[in-house]
Amino acid sequence: MKNELRKLISEFDLIQDKNLREATLAVWEKAMMAGGWSITDLTRIPFTLLIEGTTVDYVAHVRGVTKVMVEAARVLKETYGNQVKINHDYLVMGGLLHDIGKLVEYEEKNGKFVKSGCGELLRHPFSGVGLCYEAGIPTEVQHMIACHSKEGDLGKRTVEAIILHHADFTNFECLKA
Ligand SMILES: [Fe+2]
Repeated sequence: MKNELRKLISEFDLIQDKNLREATLAVWEKAMMAGGWSITDLTRIPFTLLIEGTTVDYVAHVRGVTKVMVEAARVLKETYGNQVKINHDYLVMGGLLHDIGKLVEYEEKNGKFVKSGCGELLRHPFSGVGLCYEAGIPTEVQHMIACHSKEGDLGKRTVEAIILHHADFTNFECLKA
């Protein structure tokens, strides 16, 4: 399954540290198993239930967000040098894992994608952290997942979490507009 995921989402290979890359793939596998999804389901699941009839799938969104993050980090580095400190592996992991909780937040019922029982009570930032905590994903990345959405508005965000938050909303809002 890990190889199929790497073929589908080439951004996994942007994670330089082999152990971190393997851990990220392992969380994807676990979340797919928990949600009962196959590899082909990943490009059928809508990236959000908040935009009625969207044709943008889960994989396209996760890749779009990760790519915007990588580009943003590149420009920030180029412009500000060491004044902005970014952990590149954490950045990519946060992009790839930020919506992993959606794989248990959503389910398919009678051919329709809807919130699962778990999803009614736990939005994906919470279930995402749960999946990653269990798997030993670094706290810095769990923080990014926890704070990427509105739930993180009241607290402090790290640089990587700020980039993720804005990349996610840039991808979401532009499609909603
Ligand atoms: Fe997202």
